[in-house]
Amino acid sequence: MENSIFIKTLKGEKTERPPVWFMRQAGRVLPSYMKMRAKYSFRELMSSPKLAAKVTLLPIDDLGVDAAILFSDILVIPEALGMGLDFTDTGPRFSNPLKNMADPLSSLKAASSKLTYIYNVIDEIQYTKPIDIPLIGFCGAPFTTFCYMVQGLGTNHIFPDAVAMLYKNRELAEQILEEITQLSIEYALNQVEHGIAAFQLFETHAGLIPSSFYFELIMPFVRRILVAVMEAGCPVIFLPKGLGAGIKHITPTDTSFLSIDWQTPLEEAREMVHPSIGLQGNIDPRLLLADQNTIQNTLEKYVAFGSENQNWIFNVGHGFIPSIPFENAKFVVDWVKQTNWERKT
Ligand code: CP3
Repeated sequence: MENSIFIKTLKGEKTERPPVWFMRQAGRVLPSYMKMRAKYSFRELMSSPKLAAKVTLLPIDDLGVDAAILFSDILVIPEALGMGLDFTDTGPRFSNPLKNMADPLSSLKAASSKLTYIYNVIDEIQYTKPIDIPLIGFCGAPFTTFCYMVQGLGTNHIFPDAVAMLYKNRELAEQILEEITQLSIEYALNQVEHGIAAFQLFETHAGLIPSSFYFELIMPFVRRILVAVMEAGCPVIFLPKGLGAGIKHITPTDTSFLSIDWQTPLEEAREMVHPSIGLQGNIDPRLLLADQNTIQNTLEKYVAFGSENQNWIFNVGHGFIPSIPFENAKFVVDWVKQTNWERKT
């Protein structure tokens, strides 16, 4: 793994270019994935060690990215807490969202064994992956997981009942967040035990509430997960999408790297965030819908940043969307690899 540019960057070593990978790089834009998906359901693909390992590694061969991310989903935690979950053609669906229950807490019971199949997936990836390709593990952050659990499926991703619960029944909300956090810590540490090289915590819906409220109510839960993983010796990447200027309150004891959303200019993020925290991001995934000249012109603006900042991982500011042409995703990876980043070594 000494030759992994991704690992070197995580360790703060100098490299001649930024490492590149993409959020949702496996399950959205690859023709090879679509072919497998035509044969198997998402559930089959994520549950079978052989199939999940194969899908996890597709972007390494097809796109040439520098890291693989476990092929799974953040909703495995609600499922392991006892919630019925279906991955339908229109997205994930919970059979009984917590908002419909008189006593939601009594319905939640952590069953760690329901996550065991994922450790088998990780083992299979470790056996089959190229030696210098690191595997990123992940989990949903407590608030995002809570949003899906309470609401069921997001109504345009605004989760009104989940947010309402924070204000109307804070004690219950905190108890649910506690259940999520405890199981997430165990899940994350097991992933570390099975050899992941880095761990990303996805707080996709941080922007649903004021950042001051996020820090007061949610961040203490988030910190427990991030700190547990860092203390186990694994670097962490925290993605608090929509937190805005709130990112300036994140400290080096909270996270190793911070994933910046496409709303926040990378240079501004760099000024706001403590210099020893590395950054990841933040191209707008929808830029990849444009023609390749337009894409390249926008990417060129990142060269100055990349030349000055070694502790930066090239990525999107939010996950790939399915309408992105595969050729454009490949074009971006090739561009990152071919560009002269003018780094002082
Ligand atoms: O490259 C990859 O696909 C990596 C694996 C991965 C998936 N989900 C697979 C998936 C990862 C890292 C996730 C994270 C995830 N899941 C997040 C956080 C990241 C983000 O994009 O904000 C969230 C919010 C979810 C919840 C979720 N899972 C939703 C809202 C949906 C439906 C819409 C969609 O397609 O994303 C899913 C299903 C899901 N997760 C699919 C895949 C490949 C599609 C399943 C299918 O093929 O039908």
